[in-house]
Amino acid sequence: MVSRVIPVAAFDLVLFGATGDLAARKILPSLFHRFKIGQMPPEGRIIGAARSAMDTAAFRALAKSSLNSAVPKAAKSDIAAFLKLLDYVRIDAMGDAGWKTLAKKLRKDAVRVFYLSVGPTLFSPIASGLKTAGLITPESRIVVEKPFGHDLASATALNRDLGACFKESQIYRIDHYLGKETVQNLMALRFANALFEPLWNSQHIDHVQITVAESLGVAGRGEYYERAGALRDMVQNHLMQLLCLTAMEPPSRFEPNAVRDEKLKVIRALDPVPPERIVRGQYRKGNGGDSFADEVGNPDSRSESFVAMKVQVSNWRWAGTPFYLRTGKKLRHRLSEIAIVFRDPPHSIFPAMENRRGNALIIRLQPDEGITLRMTIKDPGPGGMRLTEVPLDMTFAEALGADIVMPDAYERLIMDVVRGDQTLFMRGDEVEAAWEWIDPLTAAWAESSEKPAPYDAGGSGPEDALMLLHRDGRRWREIGQ
Ligand code: BG6
Repeated sequence: MVSRVIPVAAFDLVLFGATGDLAARKILPSLFHRFKIGQMPPEGRIIGAARSAMDTAAFRALAKSSLNSAVPKAAKSDIAAFLKLLDYVRIDAMGDAGWKTLAKKLRKDAVRVFYLSVGPTLFSPIASGLKTAGLITPESRIVVEKPFGHDLASATALNRDLGACFKESQIYRIDHYLGKETVQNLMALRFANALFEPLWNSQHIDHVQITVAESLGVAGRGEYYERAGALRDMVQNHLMQLLCLTAMEPPSRFEPNAVRDEKLKVIRALDPVPPERIVRGQYRKGNGGDSFADEVGNPDSRSESFVAMKVQVSNWRWAGTPFYLRTGKKLRHRLSEIAIVFRDPPHSIFPAMENRRGNALIIRLQPDEGITLRMTIKDPGPGGMRLTEVPLDMTFAEALGADIVMPDAYERLIMDVVRGDQTLFMRGDEVEAAWEWIDPLTAAWAESSEKPAPYDAGGSGPEDALMLLHRDGRRWREIGQ
C-alpha cells in the first residue's frame, strides 16, 4: 500500500537543543524521513540552535553521525542532500548572544517553527528571547517537549509565560503518544465505524485496562526519574491521553478544539483517587540488573517506577465502569495496549466455562500494532456444548501489506506543526486539568511514610497491583500474552 504524501509548505525550523539526545534520536531522523519521502520541501531549513560553540559544518557532521546510527540503512546520497538543509547558530538562551544572527537567517514569509528540545527551565527564557528579538511572526509556532510543568502551579506559570509571547493557537505541547499511529486509530475505530459505539458505555463494558509496560529501567535518566516518578512521567500525560481518547464523547468535527474540548471534559469528570485505589512500585535488584534505587543513585529513594490505579470517570456514559491504568519500568515485556472488556451475556444457556474471561476488544499500540477481538465459540469436536475463547486477530502490518511503514510519532507531529494542525497536541487548559487531578496524589504520597512496593525486574509489577483487580473480582491481562 502506497501512502499518500502531501508536501507541506516550506518552513524554517529552529531546533533549540540541537546537540541533545532527543534531537539525535528522534527529531532529526523524523525530519530526514519526511524529507526523503518528499513531504518536507527541499527549500525547508533546519537551524540548529544550542550553546555549543560550533559552526554549520560541525553541526552537519554531528547530525550525520546521529543519522548514521538512527537510520543505518539510509542511502549516503539522501543523507548528504538532507544535511544541506542544516544550518547552525550559537545561542545563549539566558542571555543576548546569538539572537541577531538567528534573525538574519530566518526568511520573512516562511512558516517558522521554534522547537524547544531543551530542559523545562529554558522554555520561558527562550520564548521571551524570541519575543524580544522580534522573531515571532503570525506564521510562527512554538513546540514544547514534556515535562510541561511538575505540578499545577508550575504548568500554569509556564502557560502564562508562553501565552505572553505566543497565542494559544501557536503553542504546540507535545505528547508523543498522540502521534502514534494506533493511538490515532483509536479515534478511527470508534468514530468511523458504527459497530462499537452503541456498545461503548457502562451498560455493555465491564471495565477498561490501559497498560503501558516497558522492559527497560531508568539507567541514564536516573536524576530526572527520581524527581518525576512514573505518575508524573507517564500517567499525567501518556496514560491520561489514552484514557481520554477511549472515554471521550464523539466530537462534532475532527478539528483541534472540538477534539480537545471532549478530552478536557473527560479529565474534569475524573473522580479523585483514594489511596487504596492506587499502588506504587519500585523495582528491586535482580535478573542481572540494578535496583531502581541504585540507578537513581539514592538508596532511600521513594520515587515510583510503577503505578497501577483504579480510575472512575463520573459521567452518564461511564458511571460503574472502572478504568484500570498501569505503567512501569523493567516489566516482563514492552507492551502498550488498551483492553475494553465487555460484560457477560445477561443469561447463559450453556454450561459454565472455566476461566472465562469474556469478550474483549484489545487495541495494541506497540509492538505489533493491531486489534484483537476475543470471542467465545464452541470448542470443536465431541464432548457436548463446551465453549472456548479465541482471538479474532488483526495485525495492521498483515492487513495493510507487509511493506506498510508505521511512521514514528514525531514525523506526524512535526508535519502537523508546520501545517498548523493542533488536533494531536495538548491545549493549555487540558494540561492544567491533568495536573489538578494528579497533584493531590503526589501530595498524599509526599506526606505518607510508606515506600513503594518492591517488585522483581522482568515480572508484572507488585502483588498489590494484582490485588487491586482481584478485590473487584477481575484480573489484569498478562503482560505479553
Ligand atoms: C517518555 C517517558 O515520555 O515516554 C519515558 O519520559 C518513556 O520514561 C517513554 O520510556 C515511552 O515512550 P515509548 O514511545 O517508547 O512508549
